[in-house]
Formats: sequence, structure tokens, C-alpha cells
Amino acid sequence: MKNNSAHNHPPSQPLALLGGISAEHFLAEYWQKKPLLIRQAIPGFNGLLSPDELAGLACEGDVQSRLISHKKSGWKVEDGPFDEKRFAKLPAQDWTLLVQGVNHHLPEADQLLQQFSFIPHTRLDDLMVSFAPDAGGVGAHFDSYDVFLLQGEGKRQWRISEQKDLTLIEDAPLRILKNFQAEQEWVLEPGDMLYLPPHVAHWGVAVGACMTYSIGFRAPSAQELASEFLSFLQDKVKLTGMYADPDLLLQQHPAEIEPHMLHKVGDMLNGIRWESQDVAEFLGRYLSEPKSHIVFDNPANITLKSFKQRLIKKGIVLSGKSQMLFHGDYFFLNGEQLMALPAHHALWVELADKRQLPAASFTEVLMNDNELVEQLLDWYQAGYVQFA
Ligand code: SIN
Ligand code: CO
Repeated sequence: MKNNSAHNHPPSQPLALLGGISAEHFLAEYWQKKPLLIRQAIPGFNGLLSPDELAGLACEGDVQSRLISHKKSGWKVEDGPFDEKRFAKLPAQDWTLLVQGVNHHLPEADQLLQQFSFIPHTRLDDLMVSFAPDAGGVGAHFDSYDVFLLQGEGKRQWRISEQKDLTLIEDAPLRILKNFQAEQEWVLEPGDMLYLPPHVAHWGVAVGACMTYSIGFRAPSAQELASEFLSFLQDKVKLTGMYADPDLLLQQHPAEIEPHMLHKVGDMLNGIRWESQDVAEFLGRYLSEPKSHIVFDNPANITLKSFKQRLIKKGIVLSGKSQMLFHGDYFFLNGEQLMALPAHHALWVELADKRQLPAASFTEVLMNDNELVEQLLDWYQAGYVQFA
């Protein structure tokens, strides 16, 4: 996957990834609106890791994974991390291993996500990879988020429905639709892809052993945004003055919170204000904040001099666990905010957009820019960036 992310192309350029329509066309017609089946979205794609490697990830402490099995008695969900021995005891059919955040661990997976840059990074969640032996799947369900289901090795049958009835089976350990009525169905082969907007019912069943790559998006609820914004605002609000009542009148009930006090306090609280820059800072920090289970890798110690030498030779990439966003001159990296110097602005934009700065970016001029090199070294030591 070389440098073929969509944002490097003019918006009207047809993309094989989208079945020959442009990103602009996709956004206008399909995104959040209707499903799209794309045969050979990535010709030759046969996956990025083997079932064994996926199982290996599911045994790691900082990886979120689930094992879902289905028997006559019903559905069973087990949460990872797993002991290797768990995989030896599985039946020949009808189970699925799901591993979240594969892009955090596999540079090729992070590069795969780059092909989906026609959707802003703020909306991207992660790459989930599933393995299932024959007949495995997670049942008929709907998700609240957009997803591109890219078929890796093997085949999977997908049935979908835009039905209104989204009633779920009660008391099941996972969300399974009670009355799924398939409207369309396809068998996806390696490299085929199905885009589903939120709330489209779907049911994927492995036809022989198969692996599916879910490029998943996220959208915060209004309630989540509000409560996160309020806790962000807590440190920003600076109201002056104190409650005062030189006009106090004798109350009939000393225990009563009476209207006069309510009005005064209401007026004080109406002094809480925020600007669009506060919203930008909140969003930048909130959307780039790593999920709580993420642990950044600790690099070996390095001197400034040898760091510089390796930068010139190798260039740098964001760690798969890093999220970098910007708004104007403000950049947000893993929940931290920094203001770019005018001389560094274009470079930081490139790093945020493309998630990499090739060796060629580091010219003589930049290498003598100590502030820049020290900033990169800080990020390197925090595990936020790595040599390419
Ligand atoms: C899977 O890969 O088995 C599940 C993907 C999904 O249905 O969202
Ligand atoms: Co789903």
C-alpha cells in the first residue's frame, strides 16, 4: 500500500477502493445513507496477518479481543486477553475471534486505514479483524456506526436488511436481532468490501474459514460530548465575584431556597461562556485522547545526535497508537495540545494528514532547527512517533 491515500487525489478522481466512483460521489450518495458493495475494492488483498498471529494478539494484555461461540444452547461471549491454550480447545465450527485496534500493533494495518482518509481522521475508530472457521459469525445485528467490511482470506456470506424492526433478543450476551429479514445477500471474496451505514442490519457467516477486516468509524453521542465538554470547561471557567445579598428580606421559612436567590445564582451561572476556540481545543484533546487500555512502547535511549542522524536516513511515522489532529495553528497529539511555530506548521500538517514524514522532509535547514528536532525527540521518547 504505497502512497495512494484518497486525499492525495483530486476529489473527483474515481477510486478502485470505492468501485470506480470518486470519494466526493461516495460521500454524497452513500456515506451515512445507504450500503455499497464493492467487488475487488483492493485487488489481490488477502489479509495482513495469519489466524495464528491474530490469536497471538488476542493473548496480549493491552489488546481488546472477544471470542464468540454459538451452540444450540445459545451464544457465549468471552473477553480477552486469552491464554494460548484456549484456542486449542475450540470446536471445528461456529465461533469467531474478534480483535480490536489491530492498526495499533501492525504498521501495515495503519497503512491500510490511510486508504480511507477520504473520511476525516476525527471519525475513524480502528481496524477490527475477525477470524472464523466455517459457519462462524456474530449473528444478525446492527451497529450504531459506519463500517467498511473488507474481506481478507476466505469467503464470507453477508446478508443485509434496511428493516425498521431492530428489536433484539432478550437476555442474550450479545446484541442479536429477533426478527432478521434479509433483503440482499452476497458472498464476499478476498479484496471485496461492503460499506454499511449505521443501523443497517447485517449477518456475516464464514463460508469455510475466513478473516474479515472491519474499518470502523465512531460518532460520539450528544450526551457524551456534553459531559466531556463540561469536565473540560471546569478548568477553563473563571467567574469573578461572590454571591452577595445586601437586599436580603426576611424569609418566612429560613429553610427555603426562595426565588430571589435562584435568580441571582441563575444570573451568575449565565456568566459561563465559551468560544469556538474552546470547542476546538476540547475536540482536539478529546478526539486524540488514547483509549484507556493503550500503552505506548518505550524506545531505547538515544542521544540527540544519533536521533538526528536516523531522522535524515529513515524519516518518521506516527505510532499506530497515536492520533494527531489539528485546527488552525493548534495541534493535538494523544490528548496533548501544542501550538505550531509558523516555520513548522506545514510539516506538522503533513505528519497529521499522512501519519508520516519521509526522510526527504528532513533537509539541512530543518536539521539545524533545534526546537523541531527536540520536539520530535520528545515524541519519540514518549512512543508517539517511530522511525519509518
Ligand atoms: C465479523 O467480522 O465477524 C463481524 C463484523 C460485523 O458484523 O460488524
Ligand atoms: Co456489525
